[in-house]
Amino acid sequence: MRRRNTMTRLLATAALGLPLVLAGAPAVAAPSTPVRQLGAVIPAPVETRPDARGTFTLRPHTVVRTSPGSAAAWRVGRQLAETLRPATGYPLPVLPVAATPLSEIALVIGGADARVGREGYQLDVTRRAVTIRANTEAGLFAGTQTLRQLLPARIEAPDRQRVTWTVPGGRIVDYPRFAYRGAMLDVARHFHNVDEINAYVDLLSQYKINYLHLHLTDDQGWRLQIDSWPRLTTVGGGPGTGVDGVGPGYLTKADYKAVVAYAAARHITVIPEIDMPGHTNAAQSAYAELNCDGVAPPPRTDIEVGYSSLCISDELTYKFVEDVIREVAEITPGPFLHIGGDEAHATTDEEYRTFMDRVLPLVGKYGKRASGWHEINQVDPPADVVSQFWGTRTTNADLAEAVARGNKVIMSPANKTYIDMKYDANTRLGLKWAGYIEVSDAYGWDPAQRVTGVGEDAILGVEAPLWSETLRSLDDIEYMAFPRLPAIAELGWSPAAGHDWESFRGRLGQQAPRWRQQGVDFYPSPQVPWV
Ligand code: ACM
Repeated sequence: MRRRNTMTRLLATAALGLPLVLAGAPAVAAPSTPVRQLGAVIPAPVETRPDARGTFTLRPHTVVRTSPGSAAAWRVGRQLAETLRPATGYPLPVLPVAATPLSEIALVIGGADARVGREGYQLDVTRRAVTIRANTEAGLFAGTQTLRQLLPARIEAPDRQRVTWTVPGGRIVDYPRFAYRGAMLDVARHFHNVDEINAYVDLLSQYKINYLHLHLTDDQGWRLQIDSWPRLTTVGGGPGTGVDGVGPGYLTKADYKAVVAYAAARHITVIPEIDMPGHTNAAQSAYAELNCDGVAPPPRTDIEVGYSSLCISDELTYKFVEDVIREVAEITPGPFLHIGGDEAHATTDEEYRTFMDRVLPLVGKYGKRASGWHEINQVDPPADVVSQFWGTRTTNADLAEAVARGNKVIMSPANKTYIDMKYDANTRLGLKWAGYIEVSDAYGWDPAQRVTGVGEDAILGVEAPLWSETLRSLDDIEYMAFPRLPAIAELGWSPAAGHDWESFRGRLGQQAPRWRQQGVDFYPSPQVPWV
């Protein structure tokens, strides 16, 4: 059906005499030439129709105009103007849409191609105007992120540049393949503070990522304030915590709310993860009563896994878990609460089931939808529970059975999406238990073809987890995420039919000047023709 529609459009376009470029078609400028093409963005747009007659130039008198009466359009307009002002030095006032503009960027709610849905947009570039149309604020925001990539790379500079600010002419119609496009940051193994998390959010939002999963608790640290159990952070997130004892710190509730709000302004929903019943040494070290023998274990600063477990048979465990879930749910506007469930090797299968049967309903009790790592499928969870597949194999019987029962899946196969894995044997940072992951490995798979019995309809989306055993700084985070995060972002957004390594690596190479302007410390993979 889709293919027939595509052919119909191709024929119609040929009749108009305009070239039509579908996502992934090899229409990328040679890396040494500065010419920007309409489709040369990441993630690849669904449909691109260049028009050489339509080049737009941003000028000192250009205005940003937004749908009259739409606070949503105005917010996106203000954000866009703030993004474009430093490098252009232009005033870029944000005003309601008017009839006869001289030069404008217009952000309009409504009137887009019917396919754009809730998150997509239509972008039209003519000599006089750039017009982004969408049904929602999120769609307009996505369109502005595309526009950023269509401007010269120096638009990302922090100060005024002398550049002719052209945007290639034509039309883009674009919308996501999957509703969920995620990135995970582990703030437990080494703590990363609000500024660092928000800096990562800024980068994620440029690639149309819409979920940030925060791994908040683990054996080496507990990183979110819980009022009813204060020692979780004063002890479990205090001095000496984290891998090698050098990753202390935690988010106060105010900090967490600040991250949630910062992400929301960039159309990213935060998913908090409280990992249990294993990966709990920091909590059990802070509270002796959370251990079956009543003895607090010493803090752990190594990177072993699978040794800790909450006390499944003790009622106090369920009071603790309910207190935590209630307090986390209260400060989380997003729909999901992730309860971990991975690597519970110190818990028998029967205990694991007992624990999950008690805990899964608590998530619903406080108004959230439970997600967990794929091990959670051992307990045949209710159909609204979402599991996150992190395995390296292409079969998983429990997962396939869960899918057959109607459960949805987030795909994070460790040997493709774990962007804390080393690129190759020489990578200074990262681990290698799931193998080396070069950019072509991160890009070279299809989420809907990865695991037997887990097809397109079962998949909510993809996520790139970034575990922080070896990562201490924002530079470290950037070095592992770039350039692989954009690869996962494209798998989540762009149509499978356009998936094309040659096209992707060409477009990726053109991102480098943007990252240099933004100060992003990226890995210069030899697989990519960097500009
Ligand atoms: C995991 O990597 N243990 C989810």
